[in-house]
Amino acid sequence: MTNKPKVFVTRIIPEEGLSLVREACDMELWEHELPPPREVLLEKIKDKVGVLSLLTDKIDAELMDANPQIRVVSNFAVGFDNIDIKAATARGLPIGNTPGVLTDTTADIAFTLLMATARRISESIDYVRAAKWKTWGPMLLMGQDIHKATLGIIGFGRIGQGMAKRASGFDMKVLYHDVYRRQDLEQSMGVTYADIDTILAEADFVSIHTDLNPSTRYMFNAAAFAKMKRTAILINSARGPIVDHMALYEALKSGQILGAGLDVTDPEPIPVDHPLVSLPNCLIVPHIASASVATRGKMASMAANNLIAGVRGERLPTPVNPNVYDGEIRK
Ligand code: GLV
Repeated sequence: MTNKPKVFVTRIIPEEGLSLVREACDMELWEHELPPPREVLLEKIKDKVGVLSLLTDKIDAELMDANPQIRVVSNFAVGFDNIDIKAATARGLPIGNTPGVLTDTTADIAFTLLMATARRISESIDYVRAAKWKTWGPMLLMGQDIHKATLGIIGFGRIGQGMAKRASGFDMKVLYHDVYRRQDLEQSMGVTYADIDTILAEADFVSIHTDLNPSTRYMFNAAAFAKMKRTAILINSARGPIVDHMALYEALKSGQILGAGLDVTDPEPIPVDHPLVSLPNCLIVPHIASASVATRGKMASMAANNLIAGVRGERLPTPVNPNVYDGEIRK
């Protein structure tokens, strides 16, 4: 028997986090590769006071009401579109996330996808593996230049700014769009604010760094692709549903745009028989943007610290809904 607060951790996360949770809480850990099915999650939380969730766990009002003793949900991610924040705040339930620590790691992968797609790296690897490399070819696997190209950044928060920093090392011209114009950064970062249509018309690369919300869902649809250059490349390391995947397929297939590099898809995982998967000009990796050993360790300890603070009734170090503290929080 232990008097430690009972918590449910919905997947194995790096030890940096698990050791903190184990020390402070009576932890039940879901050790399977796949997320706990909905009915299992609902069952598991019944005797718990805290949940450490992943972006694959849907945390909605039904779940919050299934056990009113739950005092905290700590998401192991910076994004939180898997959680109904409004419902949580209305119930006095603090929600945590892991901002900041994954900014550079995520910007690194966005830039990696940009470079790999521009220079057709995945096709080149396949070419070598298929024993097609017979000689140096003057016309072989020609791609697009990255240096001095125009990069359009959609969403100029921490990760979008990280992308702009990387682009400056390649002498790229950077246009950005955000609901908040960042005039304070324009000169120092050498970036120019533009409306979306200007970015679509002028950018050689468009990189998505906005969150998923009703106004960004399917923002990249057939109409958007029709406005892009035929040589343009789309990069998405934000959330899959910001892009209409069938429209993307049509745009890539018909040559409306040149290529795409995706870390996120809709749905996830993307079925292997989805038409996008077979396109040589579409490079897809399995939502690994924050997956460096160091960053996942930091995310784990941050998520653990949010969980522990929450079960103790203390303010979370990084709450998503700080306004929850304006009212009564769940005890
Ligand atoms: C990953 O996608 C995250 O939001 O941290």
